[in-house]
Parts: sequence; structure tokens; C-alpha cells
Amino acid sequence: MANGLRIAGAVRHGQQIGRTIGFPTANVGADPAVLPEDGIYASFSRVDGGPLVRSVSYVGRRPTVDGQDRELEVFILDFNGDLYDRHLETILVARVRGDRKFASLSELKDQIQKDCAVARSLLAEAWSSPEVCAA
Ligand SMILES: Cc1cc2nc3c(=O)[nH]c(=O)nc-3n(C[C@H](O)[C@H](O)[C@H](O)COP(=O)(O)O)c2cc1C
Repeated sequence: MANGLRIAGAVRHGQQIGRTIGFPTANVGADPAVLPEDGIYASFSRVDGGPLVRSVSYVGRRPTVDGQDRELEVFILDFNGDLYDRHLETILVARVRGDRKFASLSELKDQIQKDCAVARSLLAEAWSSPEVCAA
């Protein structure tokens, strides 16, 4: 289980497809060996040692866009800005669903919207959990 798993690394540029569907993600340069099972996770993240902010994380090979490497991608909720080259620490707190290949980017976008809603409610519950309080 990924509960409380922490992953940190520098943010790298992805393929920039995320911003075309309204969900720009930070691709974290993490050792694939430390990544949990592929899927979507509710998470908290911290940029350059700052405060914890809410996020949704994806671990996988991005089958919908024929991606190659297993990666951690983090979408920070309620945030607008450039994270390139910043240091990101992400704490995965609850699993939302497994990875899937979608028939189109618009189907993926609809699903990500739902994932964000699920993550918001999971994060509201997790906010006072011991893993998050200790972070
Ligand atoms: C919450 C969330 C859920 C995602 N779910 C999937 C998925 O089920 N299948 C998939 O192929 N990619 C999924 N992705 C990854 C997207 O394919 C990826 O963010 C997009 O292609 C942009 O990648 P880029 O930043 O490298 O351009 C998800 C991303 C996020 C943020």
C-alpha cells in the first residue's frame, strides 16, 4: 500500500500534452524502483520545502499517449505556475484507481476531472492522519 509513501525529485519537462488538456503535470525524476504500483493516488506535495499543498499523482507509462518510461507525474490542485527545475516532494496518501488506456485524450481528460474530485474528498479525510501530521 502506498499510504504515506514519500517520493522526491527534481521536476522535469514532460511531453507538454498535459497542458493541452488542462492538467499540466510535474514529471518528477524519481528512481522507478521506488515507485508504487501503477495508478492514480491522492497526494500532498511540497515545492522547494514549502507548505504541503493538495495534489493528484499518476504512476505509470501513460498508455493513452504511448508513453515509454514508468514515471511519477504530479498535478497540483489549485495551482497555476511553472514548476520546472523545482524540487518536489510528494506523499501518496490513498489510491484512487488503476492505470488505463483511454481511446482519446478527451476521455482521459473527463476521467482526470473525476479523479481530482475523488482525490479532494480523500485528502480532506487524510489531512489529520498521522502520516500527514508528521510530514
Ligand atoms: C490524475 C491523473 C490521472 C491520469 N490517468 C492516466 C491514465 O489512466 N492513463 C494514461 O495513459 N495516462 C494517465 N495520466 C497521464 C497523462 O497521460 C499525462 O499526464 C498526459 O499525457 C501529459 O503528459 P506530459 O506531461 O508528459 O505531457 C494521468 C494523469 C493525471 C494527472
